[in-house]
Amino acid sequence: MSEQQAKAGHRARPTSENFTAFIASGWAPRSTQLPDLSEPARWASPRREALSAAFPGERLVLPAGGYKVRSNDTDYVFRPHSAFAHLTGLGSDREPDAVLVLEPLPEGGHEPVLYFLPLAPRDSEEFFADSRVGEFWVGARPTLESMAAELGMRTEPVENLRDALAKDAGLVSLRVVRDADTQVSAMVEEVRSQSGLVQSAQEQEAALEADAELARRLSTMRMVKDDWEAQQMREACAATADAFGAVVADLPEAVRRGRGERWVEGVFGLHARHSGNGVGYDSICAAGDHANTLHWIKNTGDLRPGDLILIDAGVEIDSLFTADVTRTLPVDGTFTDVQRRVYDAVYAAQCAGIEACRPGNTFKDVHAAAIRVIAQHLFDWGLLPDGVSVEETLAEEGQWHRRWMVHGTSHHLGIDVHDCQLALREDYMEGTLAPGMVLTVEPGLYFKADDELVPPELRGIGVRIEDDILITADGCENLSAALPRASADVEAWMADIWRR
Ligand code: GLY
Ligand code: MN
Ligand code: MN
Repeated sequence: MSEQQAKAGHRARPTSENFTAFIASGWAPRSTQLPDLSEPARWASPRREALSAAFPGERLVLPAGGYKVRSNDTDYVFRPHSAFAHLTGLGSDREPDAVLVLEPLPEGGHEPVLYFLPLAPRDSEEFFADSRVGEFWVGARPTLESMAAELGMRTEPVENLRDALAKDAGLVSLRVVRDADTQVSAMVEEVRSQSGLVQSAQEQEAALEADAELARRLSTMRMVKDDWEAQQMREACAATADAFGAVVADLPEAVRRGRGERWVEGVFGLHARHSGNGVGYDSICAAGDHANTLHWIKNTGDLRPGDLILIDAGVEIDSLFTADVTRTLPVDGTFTDVQRRVYDAVYAAQCAGIEACRPGNTFKDVHAAAIRVIAQHLFDWGLLPDGVSVEETLAEEGQWHRRWMVHGTSHHLGIDVHDCQLALREDYMEGTLAPGMVLTVEPGLYFKADDELVPPELRGIGVRIEDDILITADGCENLSAALPRASADVEAWMADIWRR
């Protein structure tokens, strides 16, 4: 009995022999037709080769992770660990409790093997009784043969994992992606200590560092997208643009109904779920002063004509690649003069940031370009402390301007919304932009309602504009360019929504 069944134990029903025989019978034979090698799996193969070359002779363990409990015997929808998805090509909700092992070969290189829970027979108790993994409850799983054909690799039942990890334990060192599945990490630690390879505190520390190095490598290797990944990002951005279009068309309804931030979140979520896997992160639907809370995901407020609404949302498509786009819109379709002034300043900063997105520039150059424009506007508006120049605030020991834009301008984007997060500072912050990288450019200005250092007319205005930028051989491609950005274009886009 699974842990989850135990939790639901008081609701378990007795099963008779008659019942178990009857429920196992009378089903049409299962199809034995095997799928073709999937397109995502084809692209995953060279990524595994690259990882293999980085860790010769070592056994590499990449779990998908398991279900996460929402409450008692109810789980969240499963989403695989991003490194697992990247190296198998499995996306969407696949495959809970699976583990990819790269097994070192005597002749060099590695053989990939997927360990997972294959389809259970209909005469098993799991078939009808296991509400967490049973076919009656959550649907049928692939067979070993079917998964092998789809992914182009050997497959094994997950019950063989422990023995596979322990094989030649004293001779082969292991590395595991630790944050994916605590049970698999514990299994690896047990094998390590039983093998005698990892005993002392020093050896344990070295093993943890070896795992961290694997995680770092997996995170860093996602920084430059291959052609297929770039296309996934284009598709995620296209789906996101459609979802934004649906939100804008429904803004009058969001105002009319009250609790409008929830309505906006729902409309975006509906389209994200329909066209993709869902949202890539909880949508930020922040009207009025809520826009000044950077990650406002409570979305409990009303929408009022005359206010702005900042919507930061992205569709995660089936392959798990996500967009991350922000538009700040006048709820009634027209910016007030002061809103436009703030918006145009952020727009100018964003244009400067995007302009800096080209190969050879550093990641930091993008922020430097955008924040200089922000600082200049704050200076022009007399908001910096008396006597502080633009250069003085931009200097490391200055930074007064950060009161109104406390966040950075960019992050890498891909399977994770904050992709490549474990990469070293020298590769990320200090890194040089190269074709295939995708980053956001998302400056903002945030004037809180209770900010006594800005004139009253600015208080309660928060603006961020965010686009997803692919670095190309000679510059960049704005993947989210389908969504209007300039204030006049935004107004033209919204012109007829209140007249329909
Ligand atoms: N949506 C979170 C961010 O823009 O980083
Ligand atoms: Mn972002
Ligand atoms: Mn965002």
